[in-house]
Amino acid sequence: MKIAIGCDHGGISLKGEIVPLLQELGHVVDDKGCFATESVDYPDFAKAVCAQVQNGSCERGILICGTGVGMSMVANRFEGIRAALCNELFTARMSREHNDANVLCMGARVVGPGLAVEIVREWVSTEFAGGRHQRRIDMF
Ligand code: RB5
Repeated sequence: MKIAIGCDHGGISLKGEIVPLLQELGHVVDDKGCFATESVDYPDFAKAVCAQVQNGSCERGILICGTGVGMSMVANRFEGIRAALCNELFTARMSREHNDANVLCMGARVVGPGLAVEIVREWVSTEFAGGRHQRRIDMF
């Protein structure tokens, strides 16, 4: 699938690990930056990634900042975006199965690259269970 990815300066190193992983897994990556380590404002990158998901250019998005908190706060303000902050595997799986999360947020200062890689693997490969979970999503 096509996946948009974005980060701020706190997440740029981890983004550098996640982009090739997604490509190895056969996904097409739309990298919205940032591309340098200078301090930037995470809302700019959250907006860019969410726009790609909202307009259908990308099926899903991944956002990385220091904690993942700022990115998830911004992303969830956009209509149709269901962003999940996942810094461990169980939440990553359940955010797909039960919540049909279309944006994954991670904190590069919270998770190491090894765990982040496993979180992304889990999140991109887990299907939404539908049924009662769709009914609940339709309520918001
Ligand atoms: C940047 O220093 C930091 O505030 C940002 O990466 C993120 O953690 C915000 O939620």
